[in-house]
Amino acid sequence: MIQTRLEKTNDIAHDLPAVILTGRTGDFSRFGFSDRELSYIKTRIEKKEELIVLHRLSTFVCLVINDSARSFPGQLEFLRNISGKLHPLINESEDNSVLVVDLEDNAELVIALAEGLILNNYRFDKYRKKTEGRDGFPGTIMVYSDSLKNDALDRLGILCDAVYMSRNLVNEPLSHLNAQGLTEELSKMAVAAGFSLEVLDREKIESHQMGGLLAVNRGSIDPPTFSILEWKPDHFINEKPFVFIGKGIVYDTGGLSLKPTANSMDYMKSDMAGAAAVAGLFYALAKSGLPVHAIGLIPATDNRPGGNAIVPGDIITMHDGTSVEVMNTDAEGRLILADALSWSIRYNPGLVIDVATLTGSASAAVGTQGTVAMQKSADHWYQALEESGYYTHERLVLFPLWEEYREMLKSEIADIKNIGGKYAGAITAGKFLEHFVSFPWIHLDIAGPAYLHSEEGYRKKGGSAVGVRLLFDFIAKYSGKDKNYSVPAGS
Ligand code: BES
Ligand code: ZN
Ligand code: ZN
Repeated sequence: MIQTRLEKTNDIAHDLPAVILTGRTGDFSRFGFSDRELSYIKTRIEKKEELIVLHRLSTFVCLVINDSARSFPGQLEFLRNISGKLHPLINESEDNSVLVVDLEDNAELVIALAEGLILNNYRFDKYRKKTEGRDGFPGTIMVYSDSLKNDALDRLGILCDAVYMSRNLVNEPLSHLNAQGLTEELSKMAVAAGFSLEVLDREKIESHQMGGLLAVNRGSIDPPTFSILEWKPDHFINEKPFVFIGKGIVYDTGGLSLKPTANSMDYMKSDMAGAAAVAGLFYALAKSGLPVHAIGLIPATDNRPGGNAIVPGDIITMHDGTSVEVMNTDAEGRLILADALSWSIRYNPGLVIDVATLTGSASAAVGTQGTVAMQKSADHWYQALEESGYYTHERLVLFPLWEEYREMLKSEIADIKNIGGKYAGAITAGKFLEHFVSFPWIHLDIAGPAYLHSEEGYRKKGGSAVGVRLLFDFIAKYSGKDKNYSVPAGS
């Protein structure tokens, strides 16, 4: 987990490297700058520089200039990203801690700066013998800010822990994390955060006739699992629970519709990023004690072409009794999600959100910059979620679920088939899921941003934990922490 500690301080006279968050004008007198330094700072600000560094022996003081002309969520993302430039400075200095001073007196801005510093520091190096070049940082981030409340800082620490855990889950290979292993990690997170966990084993999954999950699991040597997470604090404000469903394909070979190895199968350990997002979300919800009732569902298995694997053309019967003609065994995510969707009816949910690395088509459409979303009977919820997307920079793009697309899923011999045609693959996957939905629902296809092949600022290579910050922000605002949030009618 993170070793970086977050602490509030009322003292700016620490002998630490300092990062001063300020606007174009600010009262720098407290920092003991010489006249020459002040005039240097003035010229740099006039030149519209955003980061001004003053080196002092083995340490430094720097100013991060926030441009209030930038759009508001844009300011947050700028501050998260500036961590990329601050890190080398912190690592080179002899201290491994840093003082962050908020001259803007704006908690949201200083939180974004600290968030970027922590998230940028993530490494997945547990399998390396030598952790060569391991940075000195993390240490402690001391935050000086009048408007920042202690609980906001605690919550940031919890959220960053959740992001780290979620990234770790995605980065673990199948050799170290199969479906069973995933439940063991979920169990550790449940104990640490205080949510409850029930795991349905193969027998229970069979007795509940989860035909989609069982079909995908047939080519595997490991049993499937179906995890049920629940966060139900003594006091909660939603009448009907939220249900979050995460795709837990711990490895996707494609099954008998085998994927090509190069550039396609090789990173398919990340096909459980939806599950990892739900796991991270529950850790953060429970650990920070948000007053909402939420249920998480994680169907999990690997998708392999073993001797007993389903073959293209097979017909399977799903949990809700629908028959599905499986024309492509690589379209497996929708099969396990459909069972979870119909299972969720038993909770009479106010809103169901599924998170899944579902289609290459979503990834082709928006790349790593966004999540493809679809929704049914959830306009108001979607608006709020979209807002959270801009706020957290985990942005959403809404795709349509027009009726005509349903045609593409028609089967000659079963109720529905599991693939559409050549085009609109993300949408036909959404249409498939919609067949199993009878409640307000949002579908998030995170295939693009879930796993990064190169670093993007504070999002490192590998698992990005996309969804954790988005969904946590959405629920935190719903929880009434944000006065501007209006609860959708009928919830
Ligand atoms: N897990 C993949 C989708 C995926 C692709 C995720 C690339 C991340 C990056 C999914 O199970 C899949 O294979 N989908 C197929 C569906 C097709 C066979 C209809 C796809 O998108 O190609
Ligand atoms: Zn697949
Ligand atoms: Zn998949």
